[in-house]
Amino acid sequence: MTRSEPASSGPGPRHVAIIMDGNGRWALQRGQPRLFGHQAGARRAREIVGACPRLGVKYLTIFAFSTENWKRTQAEVSGLMSLFRRYIVREAKVLDENNVKVRFIGDRVRLDPVLADLMDELELLTAGNTGTTLTVAVNYGGRDEVARATRRLAEDVAAGRLKPADVNEETLPRYLDTHVLPDPDLVIRTSGEARISNFLLWQSAYAEYEFVNTLWPDFTTEMFAGIIGSYGARVRRFGSAGT
Ligand code: IPE
Ligand code: IPE
Ligand code: MG
Repeated sequence: MTRSEPASSGPGPRHVAIIMDGNGRWALQRGQPRLFGHQAGARRAREIVGACPRLGVKYLTIFAFSTENWKRTQAEVSGLMSLFRRYIVREAKVLDENNVKVRFIGDRVRLDPVLADLMDELELLTAGNTGTTLTVAVNYGGRDEVARATRRLAEDVAAGRLKPADVNEETLPRYLDTHVLPDPDLVIRTSGEARISNFLLWQSAYAEYEFVNTLWPDFTTEMFAGIIGSYGARVRRFGSAGT
């Protein structure tokens, strides 16, 4: 779907998930280290979060660090972790003032305890907010999430809290990190790669996808608004014959 298509009056997406890709290439194009791109990407993320209320996006989920991103150099990984720490410290007050409810998904066990504590604090600080629900995926992998969920589910079955016959499409997602969120309506990936890289595997079964060539640090709120606007023209059938 392109930006030139007329926007329809259909409902906008309630939950948008974004694979924020292309920071490294953006920096390299400028002869800068990859971390420079991540810093620019973090500024972009702040803008996109801020645009959600006026675009009617109630839930925004952003992919910040995958379970596979540990394969990067130690310098890049530790640079990203310290960027996350600084981002939380710097943005906490303004996110709270803007009524944003922040949650983190992913496995916290492998994260630096200082970062994990900052995440807990930000979740607690913003828990009562009623505006945009911002979910940040850090050390998140869809397969890892399903495996962790299955482990907890198996524990409940073993303890007699859940019957095997009651494991179904309603009960299983209650064990996922996203259990409090609706499924994403729209998944956007920047940087021109047309893959999902282990993001929200279960949840995106019926999501609409938008792959854009722009590198994440160049992704403007106008581009975001254009994609949201054209979403209404999509016909979602969820397997039905349609009309
Ligand atoms: C996305 O940008 C941010 C993270 C994965 C942390 P990349 O760092 O993947 O940028 P490219 O894809 O190498 O350009
Ligand atoms: C996906 O981007 C993860 C994040 C945006 C955090 P990657 O750059 O890690 O994905 P691949 O390696 O291109 O599939
Ligand atoms: Mg990438």
